Amino acid sequence: MKKERSMKRYYCSQVNEKNIDENIMLYGWVAKRRDHGGIIFIDLRDHTGIIQLVFNPENKNVFQIAESIRSEYVIHAKGIVNQRQEGSINKEIASGSIEIIVSELEIFNKSDNPPFQINDPDVNEDMRLQYRYLDIRSEEMQKNIRFRSKLVSTIRDYFLSNDFVDIETPILTKTTPEGARDYLVPSRVHTRQFFALPQSPQLFKQTLMMGAIDKYFQIAKCFRDEDLRADRQPEFTQLDVELSFVDQEEIISLVEGLCNKIFQELMDSQDQLVFKRMSYNEAIQNYGCDKPDLRNPLQLTDIKEIVKNVEFKVFSDHVGDINSRITALKVPNGVVLSRKDIDDLTNLVKKFNAKGLAYFKCEKINDIDNGISSPIKKFLDKDTINNILKAVDAKDGDLIFFSADHKDVVNSSMSALIRRLGNQLDMLTDEWKFLWVLDYPLFEKDSDGNPTSIHHPFTAPLDSNELSSGDIYSIKSKAYDLVLNGNEIGGGSIRIHSKEIQMKIFEILNISKSEMEKKFGFFLKSLSYGCPPHGGIAFGIDRLVMLLLNLESIRETIAFPKTQSSSCLMTNAPSDVDNEQLKELSLSTIKPIK
Ligand code: AMO
Ligand code: AMP
Repeated sequence: MKKERSMKRYYCSQVNEKNIDENIMLYGWVAKRRDHGGIIFIDLRDHTGIIQLVFNPENKNVFQIAESIRSEYVIHAKGIVNQRQEGSINKEIASGSIEIIVSELEIFNKSDNPPFQINDPDVNEDMRLQYRYLDIRSEEMQKNIRFRSKLVSTIRDYFLSNDFVDIETPILTKTTPEGARDYLVPSRVHTRQFFALPQSPQLFKQTLMMGAIDKYFQIAKCFRDEDLRADRQPEFTQLDVELSFVDQEEIISLVEGLCNKIFQELMDSQDQLVFKRMSYNEAIQNYGCDKPDLRNPLQLTDIKEIVKNVEFKVFSDHVGDINSRITALKVPNGVVLSRKDIDDLTNLVKKFNAKGLAYFKCEKINDIDNGISSPIKKFLDKDTINNILKAVDAKDGDLIFFSADHKDVVNSSMSALIRRLGNQLDMLTDEWKFLWVLDYPLFEKDSDGNPTSIHHPFTAPLDSNELSSGDIYSIKSKAYDLVLNGNEIGGGSIRIHSKEIQMKIFEILNISKSEMEKKFGFFLKSLSYGCPPHGGIAFGIDRLVMLLLNLESIRETIAFPKTQSSSCLMTNAPSDVDNEQLKELSLSTIKPIK
Protein backbone atom coordinates (compact mmCIF):
# COMPACT_ATOMS: atom_id res chain seq x y z
CA MET A 1 0.00 0.00 0.00
CA LYS A 2 1.31 3.45 -0.93
CA LYS A 3 2.01 5.81 1.96
CA GLU A 4 -0.56 8.63 2.01
CA ARG A 5 1.51 11.70 2.77
CA SER A 6 1.69 15.21 1.44
CA MET A 7 4.69 15.58 -0.85
CA LYS A 8 7.83 16.66 0.95
CA ARG A 9 10.98 18.30 -0.39
CA TYR A 10 14.03 16.18 0.26
CA TYR A 11 17.74 16.80 -0.28
CA CYS A 12 19.51 14.19 -2.38
CA SER A 13 21.42 12.48 0.43
CA GLN A 14 18.47 12.43 2.81
CA VAL A 15 16.51 9.85 0.86
CA ASN A 16 17.08 6.21 1.72
CA GLU A 17 15.34 2.87 2.07
CA LYS A 18 13.07 4.24 4.81
CA ASN A 19 11.39 6.38 2.15
CA ILE A 20 10.56 3.53 -0.22
CA ASP A 21 7.14 4.01 -1.88
CA GLU A 22 7.01 7.59 -0.66
CA ASN A 23 6.14 10.34 -3.14
CA ILE A 24 8.78 13.04 -2.82
CA MET A 25 10.13 16.10 -4.57
CA LEU A 26 13.69 17.17 -5.23
CA TYR A 27 15.46 20.23 -6.60
CA GLY A 28 18.94 20.36 -8.00
CA TRP A 29 21.44 20.33 -10.85
CA VAL A 30 21.95 17.60 -13.40
CA ALA A 31 25.30 15.93 -12.76
CA LYS A 32 24.98 13.34 -15.52
CA ARG A 33 22.41 11.92 -17.94
CA ARG A 34 22.66 8.37 -19.28
CA ASP A 35 20.40 6.86 -21.92
CA HIS A 36 20.10 3.10 -21.43
CA GLY A 37 18.12 1.60 -24.25
CA GLY A 38 14.80 3.23 -23.65
CA ILE A 39 15.34 4.25 -20.03
CA ILE A 40 16.98 7.54 -19.04
CA PHE A 41 18.91 7.88 -15.81
CA ILE A 42 19.81 11.26 -14.40
CA ASP A 43 22.16 11.85 -11.47
CA LEU A 44 20.66 14.80 -9.66
CA ARG A 45 23.02 16.84 -7.49
CA ASP A 46 22.46 19.28 -4.66
CA HIS A 47 24.79 20.39 -1.87
CA THR A 48 24.23 17.13 0.03
CA GLY A 49 25.14 14.74 -2.76
CA ILE A 50 23.68 12.73 -5.63
CA ILE A 51 20.47 10.78 -6.22
CA GLN A 52 19.45 8.73 -9.24
CA LEU A 53 16.31 9.73 -11.16
CA VAL A 54 14.73 7.19 -13.51
CA PHE A 55 12.58 8.12 -16.53
CA ASN A 56 10.49 5.38 -18.13
CA PRO A 57 9.26 5.89 -21.71
CA GLU A 58 5.68 5.07 -20.63
CA ASN A 59 5.49 8.53 -19.09
CA LYS A 60 5.85 10.16 -22.50
CA ASN A 61 5.80 13.88 -21.57
CA VAL A 62 8.31 13.55 -18.80
CA PHE A 63 10.52 11.24 -20.89
CA GLN A 64 10.62 13.81 -23.68
CA ILE A 65 11.70 16.55 -21.31
CA ALA A 66 14.34 14.24 -19.84
CA GLU A 67 15.74 13.61 -23.32
CA SER A 68 16.47 17.32 -23.74
CA ILE A 69 18.27 17.63 -20.44
CA ARG A 70 22.04 18.30 -20.30
CA SER A 71 24.63 18.73 -17.56
CA GLU A 72 24.02 21.52 -15.04
CA TYR A 73 20.40 22.11 -16.01
CA VAL A 74 18.43 23.12 -12.91
CA ILE A 75 15.41 20.92 -12.45
CA HIS A 76 12.55 20.03 -10.16
CA ALA A 77 11.44 16.39 -10.05
CA LYS A 78 8.58 14.62 -8.31
CA GLY A 79 8.38 10.87 -8.06
CA ILE A 80 8.21 7.74 -6.03
CA VAL A 81 11.11 6.22 -4.11
CA ASN A 82 11.99 2.78 -5.44
CA GLN A 83 14.36 0.07 -4.15
CA ARG A 84 17.19 -0.45 -6.64
CA GLN A 85 17.78 -3.90 -8.07
CA GLU A 86 20.48 -5.98 -6.38
CA GLY A 87 23.12 -5.47 -9.11
CA SER A 88 22.62 -1.73 -9.49
CA ILE A 89 23.23 -0.63 -5.88
CA ASN A 90 25.86 2.15 -5.66
CA LYS A 91 27.70 1.96 -2.36
CA GLU A 92 29.61 5.19 -3.10
CA ILE A 93 26.63 7.47 -2.45
CA ALA A 94 24.28 7.83 0.52
CA SER A 95 21.18 7.26 -1.61
CA GLY A 96 22.79 4.38 -3.52
CA SER A 97 20.27 1.69 -2.65
CA ILE A 98 17.24 3.63 -3.96
CA GLU A 99 16.20 5.62 -7.01
CA ILE A 100 13.31 7.92 -7.90
CA ILE A 101 10.82 6.91 -10.59
CA VAL A 102 10.00 10.39 -11.85
CA SER A 103 6.37 11.29 -12.52
CA GLU A 104 6.71 15.06 -12.98
CA LEU A 105 9.64 17.11 -14.19
CA GLU A 106 10.24 20.81 -14.62
CA ILE A 107 13.30 22.53 -16.08
CA PHE A 108 13.91 25.82 -14.23
CA ASN A 109 16.93 26.73 -16.29
CA LYS A 110 19.16 25.37 -18.98
CA SER A 111 22.93 25.59 -18.74
CA ASP A 112 25.59 26.21 -21.33
CA ASN A 113 28.07 23.39 -21.63
CA PRO A 114 30.16 23.91 -18.48
CA PRO A 115 33.89 24.61 -19.02
CA PHE A 116 34.75 21.78 -16.62
CA GLN A 117 33.08 18.90 -14.88
CA ILE A 118 31.99 19.63 -11.34
CA ASN A 119 34.14 17.58 -8.91
CA ASP A 120 36.91 17.04 -11.47
CA PRO A 121 40.04 17.15 -9.26
CA ASP A 122 42.33 18.18 -12.14
CA VAL A 123 40.78 21.49 -13.17
CA ASN A 124 43.21 24.35 -13.35
CA GLU A 125 42.79 26.84 -10.52
CA ASP A 126 42.39 29.93 -12.71
CA MET A 127 39.46 28.22 -14.42
CA ARG A 128 37.94 27.36 -11.06
CA LEU A 129 38.28 30.96 -9.89
CA GLN A 130 36.85 32.37 -13.11
CA TYR A 131 33.77 30.13 -12.83
CA ARG A 132 33.70 30.10 -9.04
CA TYR A 133 29.89 29.52 -8.92
CA LEU A 134 30.46 26.20 -10.72
CA ASP A 135 33.45 25.37 -8.56
CA ILE A 136 31.42 26.00 -5.39
CA ARG A 137 28.98 23.30 -6.54
CA SER A 138 31.74 20.73 -5.92
CA GLU A 139 31.74 18.46 -2.90
CA GLU A 140 35.10 19.80 -1.76
CA MET A 141 34.16 23.49 -1.83
CA GLN A 142 30.79 22.79 -0.22
CA LYS A 143 32.58 21.00 2.57
CA ASN A 144 35.14 23.79 3.07
CA ILE A 145 32.62 26.63 3.04
CA ARG A 146 30.17 24.91 5.34
CA PHE A 147 32.94 23.91 7.76
CA ARG A 148 34.08 27.52 7.86
CA SER A 149 30.57 28.65 8.69
CA LYS A 150 30.39 26.12 11.56
CA LEU A 151 33.78 27.22 12.84
CA VAL A 152 32.73 30.86 12.94
CA SER A 153 29.52 29.89 14.69
CA THR A 154 31.47 27.86 17.32
CA ILE A 155 33.79 30.83 17.86
CA ARG A 156 30.89 33.28 18.28
CA ASP A 157 29.21 30.92 20.67
CA TYR A 158 32.34 30.67 22.82
CA PHE A 159 32.92 34.39 23.11
CA LEU A 160 29.27 35.38 23.56
CA SER A 161 28.84 32.83 26.33
CA ASN A 162 31.96 34.27 28.00
CA ASP A 163 30.41 37.77 28.09
CA PHE A 164 32.34 39.21 25.14
CA VAL A 165 30.68 41.92 23.06
CA ASP A 166 30.74 41.56 19.27
CA ILE A 167 31.52 45.01 17.85
CA GLU A 168 32.11 46.07 14.25
CA THR A 169 34.89 48.53 13.59
CA PRO A 170 35.22 50.74 10.49
CA ILE A 171 36.49 49.63 7.10
CA LEU A 172 37.03 53.18 5.88
CA THR A 173 39.63 54.30 8.35
CA LYS A 174 43.14 55.54 8.96
CA THR A 175 46.30 53.60 8.37
CA THR A 176 47.11 50.94 11.01
CA PRO A 177 50.68 49.69 11.14
CA GLU A 178 50.83 45.89 10.82
CA GLY A 179 53.81 45.90 8.50
CA ALA A 180 52.16 45.73 5.07
CA ARG A 181 51.23 48.40 2.52
CA ASP A 182 47.81 49.99 2.89
CA TYR A 183 44.93 49.84 0.47
CA LEU A 184 43.82 53.42 -0.02
CA VAL A 185 40.36 54.75 -0.84
CA PRO A 186 40.13 58.31 -2.15
CA SER A 187 37.59 60.61 -0.52
CA ARG A 188 35.32 62.52 -2.90
CA VAL A 189 34.24 64.99 -0.27
CA HIS A 190 37.73 65.70 1.07
CA THR A 191 39.65 66.13 -2.13
CA ARG A 192 43.18 64.72 -2.22
CA GLN A 193 42.57 62.86 1.04
CA PHE A 194 42.36 59.13 1.51
CA PHE A 195 40.92 56.54 3.79
CA ALA A 196 42.99 53.43 4.39
CA LEU A 197 41.41 50.01 4.69
CA PRO A 198 42.33 48.47 8.07
CA GLN A 199 45.26 46.05 8.18
CA SER A 200 43.59 44.97 11.43
CA PRO A 201 41.20 46.58 13.92
CA GLN A 202 44.15 47.06 16.32
CA LEU A 203 43.69 50.69 17.35
CA PHE A 204 39.90 50.49 17.43
CA LYS A 205 39.90 47.49 19.72
CA GLN A 206 42.30 49.27 22.04
CA THR A 207 40.12 52.38 22.13
CA LEU A 208 37.13 50.14 22.89
CA MET A 209 38.97 49.13 26.06
CA MET A 210 39.27 52.83 26.88
CA GLY A 211 35.51 52.93 26.29
CA ALA A 212 34.97 50.43 29.14
CA ILE A 213 33.86 47.58 26.86
CA ASP A 214 35.98 45.17 28.94
CA LYS A 215 35.70 42.17 26.59
CA TYR A 216 35.53 42.63 22.82
CA PHE A 217 35.59 40.25 19.88
CA GLN A 218 34.90 40.50 16.19
CA ILE A 219 35.16 38.38 13.08
CA ALA A 220 36.90 41.13 11.14
CA LYS A 221 37.95 41.69 7.56
CA CYS A 222 41.57 42.88 7.25
CA PHE A 223 43.32 44.25 4.18
CA ARG A 224 47.05 44.07 3.52
CA ASP A 225 48.81 44.89 0.29
CA GLU A 226 51.68 42.42 0.58
CA ASP A 227 53.31 39.70 -1.48
CA LEU A 228 50.89 36.82 -1.59
CA ARG A 229 51.57 33.18 -0.78
CA ALA A 230 49.49 30.08 -0.22
CA ASP A 231 48.67 31.27 3.29
CA ARG A 232 48.26 34.98 2.55
CA GLN A 233 45.47 36.93 0.89
CA PRO A 234 45.16 40.70 0.45
CA GLU A 235 41.77 40.48 2.10
CA PHE A 236 41.44 37.97 4.91
CA THR A 237 39.48 37.37 8.08
CA GLN A 238 40.62 37.59 11.66
CA LEU A 239 39.06 36.54 14.88
CA ASP A 240 39.99 39.66 16.82
CA VAL A 241 39.90 39.75 20.61
CA GLU A 242 40.74 42.30 23.30
CA LEU A 243 40.23 42.34 27.09
CA SER A 244 40.88 44.79 29.90
CA PHE A 245 42.63 44.09 33.21
CA VAL A 246 44.23 40.84 32.00
CA ASP A 247 47.66 39.27 31.91
CA GLN A 248 49.25 36.96 29.36
CA GLU A 249 48.23 33.79 31.23
CA GLU A 250 44.54 34.74 31.16
CA ILE A 251 44.65 35.29 27.40
CA ILE A 252 46.50 32.02 26.84
CA SER A 253 43.94 30.13 28.89
CA LEU A 254 41.02 31.81 27.07
CA VAL A 255 42.51 30.77 23.71
CA GLU A 256 43.26 27.22 24.83
CA GLY A 257 39.62 26.93 25.94
CA LEU A 258 38.51 28.04 22.48
CA CYS A 259 40.80 25.55 20.72
CA ASN A 260 39.52 22.71 22.90
CA LYS A 261 35.92 23.65 22.07
CA ILE A 262 36.70 23.78 18.34
CA PHE A 263 38.39 20.37 18.41
CA GLN A 264 35.61 18.80 20.46
CA GLU A 265 32.77 20.20 18.37
CA LEU A 266 34.23 20.16 14.89
CA MET A 267 37.13 17.69 14.88
CA ASP A 268 35.58 14.85 16.88
CA SER A 269 38.35 15.01 19.44
CA GLN A 270 37.62 14.07 23.04
CA ASP A 271 41.13 14.51 24.48
CA GLN A 272 42.32 17.78 25.95
CA LEU A 273 44.75 19.42 23.54
CA VAL A 274 48.38 19.80 24.55
CA PHE A 275 49.92 23.27 24.22
CA LYS A 276 53.70 23.43 24.42
CA ARG A 277 55.59 26.63 25.14
CA MET A 278 58.92 27.84 23.83
CA SER A 279 60.80 31.10 23.98
CA TYR A 280 61.47 32.97 20.76
CA ASN A 281 65.22 32.49 21.25
CA GLU A 282 64.88 28.74 21.71
CA ALA A 283 62.74 28.50 18.56
CA ILE A 284 65.29 30.40 16.48
CA GLN A 285 68.18 28.47 18.02
CA ASN A 286 66.73 25.03 17.35
CA TYR A 287 64.61 25.56 14.24
CA GLY A 288 65.78 28.83 12.67
CA CYS A 289 62.24 30.27 12.74
CA ASP A 290 59.59 31.38 15.20
CA LYS A 291 56.93 28.98 13.92
CA PRO A 292 58.51 25.54 14.16
CA ASP A 293 56.50 22.50 13.20
CA LEU A 294 56.91 20.22 16.21
CA ARG A 295 55.73 17.22 14.19
CA ASN A 296 59.13 17.46 12.49
CA PRO A 297 62.04 15.91 14.46
CA LEU A 298 64.83 17.85 12.68
CA GLN A 299 66.75 20.45 14.73
CA LEU A 300 69.79 22.65 14.27
CA THR A 301 73.00 22.29 16.29
CA ASP A 302 75.42 25.21 16.61
CA ILE A 303 78.98 24.15 15.87
CA LYS A 304 80.87 27.47 15.82
CA GLU A 305 82.78 26.48 18.94
CA ILE A 306 83.82 23.15 17.38
CA VAL A 307 85.09 24.63 14.10
CA LYS A 308 86.60 27.82 15.52
CA ASN A 309 90.17 26.77 14.66
CA VAL A 310 89.45 25.17 11.31
CA GLU A 311 91.10 26.87 8.36
CA PHE A 312 88.38 26.10 5.87
CA LYS A 313 87.10 29.41 4.44
CA VAL A 314 83.40 28.50 4.46
CA PHE A 315 83.63 28.21 8.26
CA SER A 316 86.53 30.50 9.15
CA ASP A 317 84.88 33.50 7.42
CA HIS A 318 82.10 33.36 10.01
CA VAL A 319 83.83 32.29 13.20
CA GLY A 320 84.68 35.75 14.46
CA ASP A 321 81.44 37.52 13.54
CA ILE A 322 78.82 37.68 16.31
CA ASN A 323 76.10 38.13 13.69
CA SER A 324 76.99 34.84 12.02
CA ARG A 325 75.92 31.30 12.77
CA ILE A 326 77.49 27.99 11.87
CA THR A 327 75.05 25.12 12.22
CA ALA A 328 74.74 21.43 11.54
CA LEU A 329 71.48 19.68 10.71
CA LYS A 330 71.40 15.95 11.27
CA VAL A 331 68.97 14.06 9.04
CA PRO A 332 68.43 10.54 10.42
CA ASN A 333 68.77 7.94 7.64
CA GLY A 334 69.49 10.80 5.26
CA VAL A 335 72.02 8.78 3.21
CA VAL A 336 69.06 7.79 1.04
CA LEU A 337 69.22 11.28 -0.48
CA SER A 338 70.79 11.11 -3.93
CA ARG A 339 73.27 13.54 -5.46
CA LYS A 340 70.38 15.07 -7.40
CA ASP A 341 68.30 15.41 -4.19
CA ILE A 342 71.20 17.25 -2.54
CA ASP A 343 71.56 19.53 -5.59
CA ASP A 344 67.85 20.36 -5.37
CA LEU A 345 68.19 21.10 -1.65
CA THR A 346 71.22 23.28 -2.38
CA ASN A 347 69.11 25.24 -4.86
CA LEU A 348 66.43 25.61 -2.19
CA VAL A 349 68.83 27.15 0.37
CA LYS A 350 70.32 29.40 -2.33
CA LYS A 351 66.89 31.02 -2.74
CA PHE A 352 67.47 32.29 0.80
CA ASN A 353 70.91 33.65 -0.17
CA ALA A 354 72.91 30.75 1.27
CA LYS A 355 76.15 30.25 -0.62
CA GLY A 356 76.13 26.47 -0.53
CA LEU A 357 75.12 23.41 1.42
CA ALA A 358 78.03 21.35 2.66
CA TYR A 359 77.26 17.89 4.02
CA PHE A 360 78.60 14.66 5.54
CA LYS A 361 77.13 11.43 4.26
CA CYS A 362 77.70 9.08 7.19
CA GLU A 363 77.62 5.46 6.05
CA LYS A 364 79.84 4.38 8.97
CA ILE A 365 80.65 6.92 11.64
CA ASN A 366 83.49 4.86 13.10
CA ASP A 367 85.34 4.84 9.81
CA ILE A 368 86.05 8.45 8.90
CA ASP A 369 88.34 7.52 6.00
CA ASN A 370 85.93 5.26 4.13
CA GLY A 371 82.60 5.61 5.90
CA ILE A 372 82.04 9.32 5.53
CA SER A 373 81.82 11.10 2.20
CA SER A 374 81.72 14.85 2.00
CA PRO A 375 82.87 17.68 -0.27
CA ILE A 376 84.44 19.38 2.77
CA LYS A 377 86.05 16.42 4.54
CA LYS A 378 89.46 17.25 3.10
CA PHE A 379 89.40 20.63 4.87
CA LEU A 380 88.72 19.17 8.32
CA ASP A 381 90.90 17.21 10.72
CA LYS A 382 89.69 13.98 12.29
CA ASP A 383 89.12 15.48 15.74
CA THR A 384 86.88 18.17 14.33
CA ILE A 385 84.92 15.61 12.33
CA ASN A 386 84.51 13.43 15.42
CA ASN A 387 83.44 16.40 17.53
CA ILE A 388 80.79 17.32 14.97
CA LEU A 389 79.51 13.72 14.85
CA LYS A 390 79.35 13.71 18.63
CA ALA A 391 77.62 17.09 18.84
CA VAL A 392 74.76 15.96 16.62
CA ASP A 393 74.77 12.40 18.03
CA ALA A 394 75.26 10.94 14.53
CA LYS A 395 74.44 7.31 13.74
CA ASP A 396 75.32 5.16 10.73
CA GLY A 397 73.06 6.18 7.85
CA ASP A 398 72.66 9.82 8.88
CA LEU A 399 73.31 12.80 6.66
CA ILE A 400 74.53 16.05 8.18
CA PHE A 401 74.05 19.39 6.40
CA PHE A 402 76.04 22.52 7.26
CA SER A 403 75.27 26.18 6.96
CA ALA A 404 77.63 29.06 7.74
CA ASP A 405 76.54 32.61 7.10
CA HIS A 406 74.95 35.72 8.56
CA LYS A 407 72.46 34.43 11.13
CA ASP A 408 69.46 35.68 9.12
CA VAL A 409 70.60 33.67 6.09
CA VAL A 410 71.30 30.54 8.16
CA ASN A 411 67.96 30.83 9.96
CA SER A 412 65.80 31.39 6.90
CA SER A 413 67.56 28.84 4.68
CA MET A 414 67.88 26.10 7.30
CA SER A 415 64.29 26.46 8.51
CA ALA A 416 63.16 26.08 4.88
CA LEU A 417 65.43 23.04 4.57
CA ILE A 418 63.97 21.50 7.73
CA ARG A 419 60.46 22.02 6.37
CA ARG A 420 61.32 20.54 2.95
CA LEU A 421 63.11 17.49 4.39
CA GLY A 422 60.34 16.79 6.87
CA ASN A 423 57.91 16.42 3.99
CA GLN A 424 60.26 14.83 1.49
CA LEU A 425 61.40 12.09 3.88
CA ASP A 426 57.94 11.69 5.40
CA MET A 427 59.20 12.49 8.88
CA LEU A 428 56.14 14.37 10.22
CA THR A 429 54.17 12.64 12.95
CA ASP A 430 50.43 12.47 12.47
CA GLU A 431 49.18 14.76 15.25
CA TRP A 432 48.17 18.32 16.11
CA LYS A 433 51.10 20.23 17.56
CA PHE A 434 50.18 23.50 19.23
CA LEU A 435 52.98 25.75 20.37
CA TRP A 436 52.99 29.08 22.19
CA VAL A 437 56.03 31.12 21.22
CA LEU A 438 56.78 33.56 24.05
CA ASP A 439 59.37 36.11 25.22
CA TYR A 440 59.76 37.83 21.87
CA PRO A 441 62.18 40.71 21.62
CA LEU A 442 60.37 44.05 21.26
CA PHE A 443 62.45 45.24 18.30
CA GLU A 444 64.46 43.84 15.43
CA LYS A 445 66.52 45.51 12.71
CA ASP A 446 64.83 46.10 9.38
CA SER A 447 66.67 45.62 6.07
CA ASP A 448 68.12 49.14 6.37
CA GLY A 449 69.41 48.45 9.89
CA ASN A 450 66.76 50.58 11.61
CA PRO A 451 64.71 49.39 14.59
CA THR A 452 61.25 48.05 13.84
CA SER A 453 58.66 46.37 16.05
CA ILE A 454 58.58 42.58 15.78
CA HIS A 455 54.84 42.64 16.40
CA HIS A 456 53.41 46.18 16.27
CA PRO A 457 54.35 49.36 18.10
CA PHE A 458 51.53 49.00 20.66
CA THR A 459 53.09 45.90 22.24
CA ALA A 460 54.18 46.42 25.85
CA PRO A 461 57.82 45.86 26.84
CA LEU A 462 58.35 43.30 29.58
CA ASP A 463 60.19 45.97 31.58
CA SER A 464 59.60 49.55 30.45
CA ASN A 465 62.63 50.76 32.46
CA GLU A 466 64.85 49.10 29.87
CA LEU A 467 63.60 51.42 27.11
CA SER A 468 66.17 54.00 28.11
CA SER A 469 69.00 51.48 28.41
CA GLY A 470 71.62 50.97 25.72
CA ASP A 471 70.71 47.85 23.76
CA ILE A 472 67.11 48.14 22.64
CA TYR A 473 67.36 44.80 20.81
CA SER A 474 67.72 42.90 24.08
CA ILE A 475 64.42 44.24 25.46
CA LYS A 476 61.77 41.55 25.69
CA SER A 477 58.11 42.16 24.95
CA LYS A 478 54.81 40.87 26.30
CA ALA A 479 53.93 39.31 22.93
CA TYR A 480 52.85 35.75 22.17
CA ASP A 481 52.12 33.79 19.00
CA LEU A 482 50.20 30.55 18.65
CA VAL A 483 51.63 28.09 16.12
CA LEU A 484 49.81 25.01 14.86
CA ASN A 485 51.81 22.42 12.90
CA GLY A 486 54.31 25.03 11.77
CA ASN A 487 51.80 27.74 10.86
CA GLU A 488 51.30 30.96 12.75
CA ILE A 489 47.58 30.92 13.43
CA GLY A 490 47.40 33.74 15.96
CA GLY A 491 49.38 36.48 17.59
CA GLY A 492 48.88 39.15 20.19
CA SER A 493 50.27 40.94 23.18
CA ILE A 494 49.68 42.88 26.34
CA ARG A 495 49.54 46.51 25.19
CA ILE A 496 51.12 49.71 26.30
CA HIS A 497 48.59 51.67 28.36
CA SER A 498 50.74 54.67 29.21
CA LYS A 499 51.02 57.60 26.85
CA GLU A 500 54.64 58.28 27.86
CA ILE A 501 55.76 54.73 27.11
CA GLN A 502 53.85 54.73 23.83
CA MET A 503 55.58 57.95 22.78
CA LYS A 504 58.94 56.56 23.83
CA ILE A 505 58.38 53.53 21.56
CA PHE A 506 57.46 55.80 18.63
CA GLU A 507 60.62 57.77 19.32
CA ILE A 508 62.78 54.63 19.23
CA LEU A 509 61.11 53.78 15.92
CA ASN A 510 62.26 57.18 14.60
CA ILE A 511 58.71 58.51 14.27
CA SER A 512 58.92 62.29 14.61
CA LYS A 513 56.58 64.24 16.91
CA SER A 514 54.73 65.69 13.93
CA GLU A 515 54.34 62.28 12.30
CA MET A 516 53.14 60.86 15.64
CA GLU A 517 50.54 63.57 15.79
CA LYS A 518 49.48 63.07 12.19
CA LYS A 519 49.23 59.29 12.27
CA PHE A 520 48.41 58.46 15.87
CA GLY A 521 47.31 61.77 17.42
CA PHE A 522 43.80 60.48 18.07
CA PHE A 523 45.20 57.37 19.72
CA LEU A 524 47.73 59.18 21.88
CA LYS A 525 44.95 61.50 23.00
CA SER A 526 42.76 58.55 23.98
CA LEU A 527 45.60 57.26 26.17
CA SER A 528 45.32 60.46 28.23
CA TYR A 529 41.73 59.86 29.33
CA GLY A 530 41.90 56.82 31.58
CA CYS A 531 43.24 53.82 29.66
CA PRO A 532 42.91 50.46 31.46
CA PRO A 533 45.71 47.88 31.23
CA HIS A 534 44.65 45.61 28.37
CA GLY A 535 45.75 42.96 25.91
CA GLY A 536 44.46 40.72 23.18
CA ILE A 537 45.11 38.48 20.26
CA ALA A 538 44.00 37.87 16.67
CA PHE A 539 43.66 34.63 14.70
CA GLY A 540 43.70 34.04 10.99
CA ILE A 541 40.36 32.31 10.38
CA ASP A 542 41.28 31.39 6.80
CA ARG A 543 44.51 29.75 7.96
CA LEU A 544 42.76 27.89 10.72
CA VAL A 545 40.24 26.41 8.28
CA MET A 546 43.06 25.50 5.91
CA LEU A 547 44.90 23.60 8.64
CA LEU A 548 41.89 21.90 10.19
CA LEU A 549 40.77 20.62 6.78
CA ASN A 550 44.32 19.86 5.62
CA LEU A 551 44.06 22.10 2.54
CA GLU A 552 46.90 23.35 0.37
CA SER A 553 45.99 27.03 0.36
CA ILE A 554 43.72 29.50 2.12
CA ARG A 555 42.10 30.14 -1.28
CA GLU A 556 40.28 26.84 -0.73
CA THR A 557 38.63 28.27 2.39
CA ILE A 558 37.43 31.55 0.88
CA ALA A 559 34.34 31.71 -1.32
CA PHE A 560 35.75 34.41 -3.60
CA PRO A 561 39.52 34.63 -3.16
CA LYS A 562 42.07 36.65 -5.10
CA THR A 563 44.79 35.11 -7.26
CA GLN A 564 48.50 35.22 -6.48
CA SER A 565 48.60 38.54 -8.32
CA SER A 566 45.73 40.01 -6.24
CA SER A 567 42.95 39.93 -8.77
CA CYS A 568 39.49 38.39 -8.80
CA LEU A 569 39.12 36.29 -11.94
CA MET A 570 35.35 36.07 -11.62
CA THR A 571 34.58 39.78 -11.50
CA ASN A 572 37.81 40.93 -13.18
CA ALA A 573 38.56 43.26 -10.29
CA PRO A 574 40.52 45.45 -10.09
CA SER A 575 39.37 47.17 -13.25
CA ASP A 576 39.53 50.50 -15.06
CA VAL A 577 37.27 53.34 -14.02
CA ASP A 578 35.76 56.15 -16.07
CA ASN A 579 37.57 59.44 -16.36
CA GLU A 580 34.38 60.98 -14.94
CA GLN A 581 34.78 58.99 -11.74
CA LEU A 582 38.38 60.04 -11.40
CA LYS A 583 37.47 63.66 -11.98
CA GLU A 584 34.85 63.50 -9.25
CA LEU A 585 37.59 62.26 -6.92
CA SER A 586 40.00 64.95 -8.14
CA LEU A 587 42.38 62.22 -9.27
CA SER A 588 44.29 61.64 -12.43
CA THR A 589 46.54 58.75 -13.42
CA ILE A 590 50.14 59.17 -14.54
CA LYS A 591 49.51 57.05 -17.62
CA PRO A 592 46.26 57.73 -19.48
CA ILE A 593 43.32 55.46 -18.65
CA LYS A 594 42.81 52.67 -21.22
P1 AMO B 1 48.95 39.62 12.99
O1 AMO B 1 49.45 40.58 11.99
O2 AMO B 1 49.92 38.62 13.56
O3 AMO B 1 48.37 40.38 14.26
O4 AMO B 1 47.72 38.84 12.39
C1 AMO B 1 47.01 37.88 13.15
C2 AMO B 1 46.81 36.61 12.34
O5 AMO B 1 46.18 36.88 11.10
C3 AMO B 1 46.62 35.95 10.12
N1 AMO B 1 47.11 36.70 8.94
C4 AMO B 1 46.76 36.44 7.67
N2 AMO B 1 45.98 35.52 7.13
C5 AMO B 1 45.80 35.53 5.79
N3 AMO B 1 46.36 36.43 4.96
C6 AMO B 1 47.17 37.40 5.45
N4 AMO B 1 47.70 38.28 4.61
C7 AMO B 1 47.41 37.43 6.86
N5 AMO B 1 48.14 38.22 7.67
C8 AMO B 1 47.94 37.77 8.93
C9 AMO B 1 47.71 35.11 10.76
C10 AMO B 1 48.11 35.94 11.96
O6 AMO B 1 48.57 35.13 13.00
N6 AMO B 1 46.49 43.29 15.39
C11 AMO B 1 47.36 42.14 15.57
C12 AMO B 1 46.84 41.18 16.60
C13 AMO B 1 46.93 41.64 18.01
O7 AMO B 1 47.99 42.17 18.41
O8 AMO B 1 45.94 41.44 18.76
C14 AMO B 1 47.51 41.44 14.23
O9 AMO B 1 46.85 41.73 13.25
O10 AMO B 1 47.16 33.88 11.16
P1 AMP C 1 83.22 25.74 -2.15
O1 AMP C 1 84.44 25.93 -1.35
O2 AMP C 1 82.45 26.99 -2.45
O3 AMP C 1 83.42 24.86 -3.37
O4 AMP C 1 82.26 24.90 -1.21
C1 AMP C 1 82.60 23.63 -0.69
C2 AMP C 1 81.34 22.99 -0.17
O5 AMP C 1 80.81 23.83 0.87
C3 AMP C 1 80.22 22.85 -1.20
O6 AMP C 1 79.56 21.63 -0.90
C4 AMP C 1 79.32 24.02 -0.92
O7 AMP C 1 77.97 23.68 -1.24
C5 AMP C 1 79.50 24.21 0.57
N1 AMP C 1 79.34 25.61 1.01
C6 AMP C 1 79.82 26.74 0.44
N2 AMP C 1 79.49 27.83 1.17
C7 AMP C 1 78.79 27.37 2.21
C8 AMP C 1 78.16 28.00 3.33
N3 AMP C 1 78.21 29.30 3.52
N4 AMP C 1 77.51 27.20 4.23
C9 AMP C 1 77.48 25.87 4.05
N5 AMP C 1 78.03 25.24 3.03
C10 AMP C 1 78.69 25.95 2.12
